[in-house]
Formats: sequence, structure tokens, C-alpha cells
Amino acid sequence: MIEEMYIKQRHKSMALYEKAVNIFPSGVTHDTRFILPFPTYITEAKGSRKWDVDGNEYVDFAMGHGALLLGHGREEVINAVRDAVLKGTHYGASSELEIRWGEMVKRLVPSAERVKFTSSGTEATLLSLRLARACTGKTKIIKFHGHFHGWQDYLTVGERPPWEIPPVGIPDEVLRTVIALPCDLSPLERVLKNDKDIAGVIIEPTGGSWAKVPIPDGFLEKLRGLTTKYDVLLIFDEVVTGFRWSPGGAQGLYGVIPDLTTLAKILAGGFPGGAVVGKKEVLESLEFSEEEERNQRRKIRHQGTFNANPVSAAAGIACLNIVSTGKPQKEASNRALDMRKALNEIIKAYEVRGCVYGDSSVFHIALGIAPRNFTGGDIRHPALPPEVLKMGMEKNLARLFQLSMLAEGVDIFHLGGLVSSAHTDEDVERTVKAFEVSVQSLRKEGVLK
Ligand SMILES: Cc1ncc(COP(=O)(O)O)c(C=O)c1O
Repeated sequence: MIEEMYIKQRHKSMALYEKAVNIFPSGVTHDTRFILPFPTYITEAKGSRKWDVDGNEYVDFAMGHGALLLGHGREEVINAVRDAVLKGTHYGASSELEIRWGEMVKRLVPSAERVKFTSSGTEATLLSLRLARACTGKTKIIKFHGHFHGWQDYLTVGERPPWEIPPVGIPDEVLRTVIALPCDLSPLERVLKNDKDIAGVIIEPTGGSWAKVPIPDGFLEKLRGLTTKYDVLLIFDEVVTGFRWSPGGAQGLYGVIPDLTTLAKILAGGFPGGAVVGKKEVLESLEFSEEEERNQRRKIRHQGTFNANPVSAAAGIACLNIVSTGKPQKEASNRALDMRKALNEIIKAYEVRGCVYGDSSVFHIALGIAPRNFTGGDIRHPALPPEVLKMGMEKNLARLFQLSMLAEGVDIFHLGGLVSSAHTDEDVERTVKAFEVSVQSLRKEGVLK
């Protein structure tokens, strides 16, 4: 049985979890890491692989939650970080490193006329809303069902189904300032036409959770048209897609340029860091003025102890240098495509319900549900409702599937994964084998038909 096998391989992880539950709520430090009977504890990572406390090896598809496009411990990044650490980890002052980092971001990201660093993606999306509100003098923000923008108060609304259930711990007054809509132009235009208090629209430009809930083709162009027509700001949340979909992110690939963009993850080469970039006149709200009255009434105050710290800046520069060539994105995308195809062949061969889909260098796995446009090859947009795509699988099936993949030496992430340029053909083969064994085991346990 899958769960017994998982436990048998992980005595040390089990013992650590017993300590962890007395320290952290549910024993974890990030919701995504919560899994019963207990999570796996990792001690080391290199390239495409990582190892746990019990000595088990994994092909890693969490890849620093998408931050590690170049894989774990890429030499150029580690060397840059080592040099930086030896010169001090925080100067409490401006540095040349932050200028070099910011220049690279400006050069790569089409919408980046100005750059403001933050310490995380959540902080970046939070600042983007404040900028949109300050710049337009309006209050409300439109977001889309199933799109994730970090854990800040405003944007957790409508993040997972059922869409109408409000997130806990957030005042109604805050929730009333955000309108969550389906990714559909008609309701969007209706709201834009009737509500004159909309400051901006924020979207994951490849669909919710890095293309897990894909958006219709041509949606971005029309969204750009509508936001311009109704004079509201368009914000692309490229925390995951930035530098991954292309060196210039999704906007670089699709040629649709937003007013503001939020970045993190690959931006800082696997270290903490984020940024809001965008039009000069929008980021002007962050500027100091010679008029004290303006500073008091119009300037957005923005601090953050670790903004553009020299370690993250050094890692970011080294990473973006490599990323700017477009080569790692191509390598990772090719591997992801091979894998999506090979996993779908298994679904077809075993005649189970499911599909593996995705775009660029990511993949998503849905088992127990069968989209009618599944043919066995690669697929970008399964014909399934957004709430089904967002959840991916029934809860217990998802849990057993993840345990089984771990037991077979593969760490998937959010029922899918982010492929890096460090992944090899052998990693793909190993993942395909683990998937085949998992499909067999899940069928044997009667949870997959
Ligand atoms: C699209 C998107 N936006 C924002 C965030 C929040 O970023 P962070 O975890 O750095 O706060 C994430 C995190 O995964 C994300 O995927």
C-alpha cells in the first residue's frame, strides 16, 4: 500500500515531524508543504536532485517554488553569493549591486521603465495595488478566479473554489475593495463600464497558478484593450512567469505590455527578493518631492529591511545574466514538453481518467477527471471548468498520488512541477517510470479509475 511504503522509507522524517507539530501550526512553515501522514524533510539539493534525512533521493520539481530555473546550486550563482557574503550581508545603504540588478531588469522586462525592489512576491503584489490606487485615485481592484498573488489580504479573495467563500481573518471593508471575476471578457466589461471606482486589474498572464487554470487565447490582448478603454491600470503578476516564459517573461513572449508588473523568484536567483516594475509615471508615486506637502499627501511610503540586499542582488545579477540568453528557458521547456507527452502516453495506455498539461517549462497533473479534448499528446488547455482545474484532483487521490511519487523518488509541486535547465533526459525517464508505478498503485488501491 502506498502510505505504508512512504512511511517505511522515512523513519527520520516521521521523528522530525513529531517535533515540528509542537512548534509550527500543523508542523509546517508553508501551507504547500502540509501532507499527511507527515512531510519529507530535505537535507541537501544539487542540480535537479535533492536528498532527505533518510537518504532517499528525489528528482525535484518544486525547484524552489519556481525560483530555480537554473537548478539547485548553479555554480555562477553560488560563486556570486559567496563573494557577496564575504563582503557583508547588509550594508544598510545603497550599493552598486542594486543598480546593476535594476539595470538588468529594465533591459529584460518590456514594461520596466522604473523598478522598485521588495523582499518577496507577496510584497510586490501588495505594492502594485497601492501604486494603482495612488496613481488613479480609485479604490477597487479586479482579479480573476483561481489566480494566486501571494498571501496578502486583498488578493486572497477568489483564489480557490468555492470562489464565493471569503478568506478568513480579512475585514469585510478590505474584501469589498476587490472584485473576483471569472476569466471572461463580458462580466469584466460590465464591471468596468458600471463601476467608476476601479483602480486596476491584476492577472497571472498565463492563467491562474502558472497556467494551471489557463486563460482563453487572445484574452490578454483584449484585456489590454479594455483596461486602456476604461482607463484602469493593468497589472501582470509575473512572479512565476517572469524570466521563465521568455527572458522578458510572458509579456516578452506575447507582446502585451502591462502598466505594472510584479516579479520575484527567478528575479533573485533563488534568494529572497521581489520587485514592482512599470511605467515611470505610475512609479512616480514612490518619489520624494521638494514640496513637503506632496510628500505628506501624495508619496507612497515604502521601506523593507531586506529590499535589494547585496546577497539577493548578487544572486539575481548572476542568474539574470544566464537567463538573458534564452537558453535555459528553451532547455527547460523542451524537457517539460517531453515529459507532458510521455506522461499522457501512460494515461492513455492504462486507460485511466486524467491528463497532464501545461505550457513553457511547467506541467500540471490532473487524475480522476477526463477532459473531452484529451487525445494522449501534449495539451495546453484541458476542456474542464476552472474550479476543477484549480483543484486538479480529488483530495485523497491527490494525497496518495503525491506520496506515491515521493516513494518512487520524485517530488512534485502543487500536483505538477516547474522544470529547470538542470533537468536531464534521465530525470524525465525516472519521472515517467515513477508516474507509471503510481498509476498502477493508485488503481490497485481503487482510488483511480
Ligand atoms: C503568481 C504569484 N504571485 C505572487 C506570489 C507570492 O510570492 P512570494 O511567495 O514570494 O511572496 C506567488 C508565489 O508563489 C505566485 O505564484
